[in-house]
Amino acid sequence: MHHFQYHNKEMFCEDVPLARIAQEVGTPFYAYSNATLRRHFGAFDEAFSGISHMVCFSVKANSNLAVLKVFANMGGGLDIVSGGELYRGLRAGVPPEKIVYSGVGKRVDEIEYALRSKILMFNIESAQELERVNQCAGRLNTRARIALRVNPDVDPGTHPYISTGMKENKFGINRHAAIATYKAAAELDHIDVAGIDCHIGSQLTDTAPFVEALQRIKELIADLEGLGISVQYLDLGGGLGITYDQEKPPHPDVYAQAIVRELGDVPFTLILEPGRVIVGNAGVLVTECLYVKNIEEKIFVVVDAAMNDLARPSLYDAYHGIQPVIKDERPSFVADVVGPICESGDSFARDRMLPECRSGDLLAVMSAGAYGFTMSSNYNSRPRIPEVLVIEDRFYVVRERETYADLIRGESVPSFLQPAPEDLSGLSVA
Ligand code: LLP
Repeated sequence: MHHFQYHNKEMFCEDVPLARIAQEVGTPFYAYSNATLRRHFGAFDEAFSGISHMVCFSVKANSNLAVLKVFANMGGGLDIVSGGELYRGLRAGVPPEKIVYSGVGKRVDEIEYALRSKILMFNIESAQELERVNQCAGRLNTRARIALRVNPDVDPGTHPYISTGMKENKFGINRHAAIATYKAAAELDHIDVAGIDCHIGSQLTDTAPFVEALQRIKELIADLEGLGISVQYLDLGGGLGITYDQEKPPHPDVYAQAIVRELGDVPFTLILEPGRVIVGNAGVLVTECLYVKNIEEKIFVVVDAAMNDLARPSLYDAYHGIQPVIKDERPSFVADVVGPICESGDSFARDRMLPECRSGDLLAVMSAGAYGFTMSSNYNSRPRIPEVLVIEDRFYVVRERETYADLIRGESVPSFLQPAPEDLSGLSVA
């Protein structure tokens, strides 16, 4: 059951017309379907039910507290990459023993926060970081569970900006160097070697690169065992893709079967860090058409959302479907859908066939639940937009629209810039 559907030519999220939300909260806004979030998380979790596993949702894809809480209520854990994500996860009630901490640049304060919070483990990305985590744990008189993030050097066949497991990437430890780093880790006073980790990229539409990465990780585990170093957790990262346009990614069942088959009968707990596959198609961005600008060469549909709200099209040239919220029998035209920001790159679609839009029409930018709000900014001093969670025939604003006052929160004008009014006279141009 798809939860963004037309009923009588009107697009609904579950049982709520998107136009009604627009009327009540204004545009633009993100809307998420609770049923879709639950269905996707449940299907992914269920796909691995035959083996010992943990699904640690990757917070960077969608970090709204309510969204995290949906997964927490379903027994989910989290994959975090910053102190801020840890804070969100804990505030959403996710048990720290289900949280893994990835990322190449963990700061001391973040490491200490994670240690004090007693997270499950740190996915370590360099020998220096290992050293630092050991020092922090020593200072706090505790021990840190770690996995090394190994770079398996597998080509995921995805966009170069989002492939992370090839040897020229900044991520992880070269698999040849990993053995030495594991040996060093085993010697450290405040480190417990708990696992092995890799993440090869995002939006993968084939199982083969995952299987290849797993093969390489298994070889490494065997080498480590030869040295008397054993792991309890095998973290395979995230990366399973979704359909934005014509892509045909494997269903989580097929992905899980391929992994479980390759894994064989092993004593580890498998950790997975899915992001996009859970939330991507559980959210849309709803925007209003402000103007239709028809110049000789092109038609521009100027909408009230922009690249600061959803960066993916301008950043990666990513495709997002765009559909009218109210469908009527209008002819189609080919247009660019663009935002109000002062950059040529501020567009959601180029040369896209759409039903003719008019000022005041609502458009839904599809598949916007992952890396949508989380990558948004205040560029051009645009307040960030609200997030709405729909459950059946009700909806909840789970993040309010920012105000102009929010835009300058924390800013101040130092006193030397605030001359007394009489001083200002001297500055006036005669
Ligand atoms: N684990 C680690 C260590 C990661 O770096 C990532 C994503 C994930 C898990 C989750 O990957 P997913 O299942 O969502 O593919 N902003 C880009 C995507 C960047 C992905 C970064 N890492 C986009 O909008 O396409």
